[in-house]
Formats: sequence, C-alpha cells, structure tokens
Amino acid sequence: MRVRVFETPDLAGLYVATIMEQVVLSVTSPILGLATGSTVLPCYDAFCKLAHDGLDLTRTTTINLDEYVGLSPSHPQSYHYFMENHLFQRIRNWSGEKYIPNGIAEDLPEECKRYDEYIKRHPIDLQLLGIGTNGHIGFNEPSHSLLSTTHVVTLSEETIRSNSRFFDGIEDVPRQAITVGVQAILQAKQIVLVAFGEQKARAVADSISGTVRTDVPASMLQLHRDVTWVLDEASASYLNNGEVARTITE
Ligand code: F6R
Repeated sequence: MRVRVFETPDLAGLYVATIMEQVVLSVTSPILGLATGSTVLPCYDAFCKLAHDGLDLTRTTTINLDEYVGLSPSHPQSYHYFMENHLFQRIRNWSGEKYIPNGIAEDLPEECKRYDEYIKRHPIDLQLLGIGTNGHIGFNEPSHSLLSTTHVVTLSEETIRSNSRFFDGIEDVPRQAITVGVQAILQAKQIVLVAFGEQKARAVADSISGTVRTDVPASMLQLHRDVTWVLDEASASYLNNGEVARTITE
C-alpha cells in the first residue's frame, strides 16, 4: 500500500490524472473504473487537460461504480449526468464505451446481474475510488457483512445526510442506489483511493491502520496488493498520530 499526501486537492488531482494516463498509455484497450462526487473533480479536471493535450482515449472504456435508484440519466444529480458534465462531454471524440448502472431499470436485480457480467468480461485496469465519511467505497455501506456482487443498497443515514449537499433538501436524496460489490473493486488490477478534508480523516485512518472489518468497508483495500491512497493533509491528519508525512510507503 502506498500513501501519498499532497498540499492541495489540485496537486493530488494532477497526480491521479497521471496515473490514469499511464494506464491508458500502457494497455491496448484500457478499462478505467470511475467514481463520482466532489473528491474526483480535480482528478477529472487534470485528466481533461491531458486529453486536450493529445492523450488518445479512443480505445478507453469506462465503468462507473454506482448510480442512484430512481434518477434518470437527465436528472442533474444522477451519476450519468455527473459523468457527462464533468468528464465525457469535455473530451472531444471519446468514442469508447461508457458503462454506468441504470438506476431506472424496470428490473433492478436483472440490471445488477447484467452489470456484473459486463465487469467479468471487462476486467478493470484501474479503479478510482472516493470514500464516504463512514468509510464506504462505491455505495458499499458499513454493515455486518458486505456483498461481493453488484446490488441494490439502502443508503445509510450518514450518506443521505452527507449527499444532501448536492440536492435541494435531504428529502430529495434517493434512499437507494445500485453499487458494484467489493469483489469487482478488489479484482481491479490497480486501485487509487482519493480523499480530501478533515471530515474523511477518521475513515481514512481506520481503513489504513485499523483491522479489516466490514463496518469500515474501505479497510478491505488492505487485502489488495496495488492500492495507492491519495490524500491532502487534512484527510491524512489522523495517520501517524497526526504527524503528516508527505509520502508513506508500507
Ligand atoms: C460515488 C462513490 C462514493 C463517493 C464517496 C465520496 O461514485 O462511489 O463512494 O466516492 O461518497 O463522495 P465525495 O467525493 O462527494 O465526498
């Protein structure tokens, strides 16, 4: 596991974008597992710049982690909309396939099955992750057990409260989502988890230094052999008894 701590989210985002670039350049048909949320914005900004500077994405496929149940792709808070707005539409001629769970599928269990089968046929080269204040990855919420496959999840009160910042009111936040399971995440060849802000510090420290436990879903990443944690000083502030090292490698 590698832990990299940056002074600002923009510097961290640039670092993540260059990891994405390396994967795109070194794999014939690259598959990027992508996340949404405020944390990944600086990463996508920097990645768009690389694409404008000539990074060829024609053979690059993307597979997103999750989508709210009940939000159509045109809903401004849907993850389809987020991805179009913050990444796909900003890169000209990106014709590669882009997969996001369909949150308005009539048959949600069938949609989950279809998504899993797709991931099985398209192993992810690089999985980009954010982390919830409660330690969730994708929408795998803290629980006494974690599901390995894509499933419909009931969002925790903490996640609903936290994500209400994107909606007009807390009552507008969908109560359910489709999320890939921990198996799809752990099967990615490489994982980069990004976290910014003091509100993530507890979850970050518990996931990196605590025991592997299902009520801290990101602690599962300790089981993977190629994980990089990309942090700012605030999110790293509970590591090493508060002593922030710029680079820690275990
Ligand atoms: C979103 C996702 C979530 C977010 C996490 C952090 O696709 O998978 O796990 O990464 O909730 O969200 P932000 O970055 O908004 O704090």
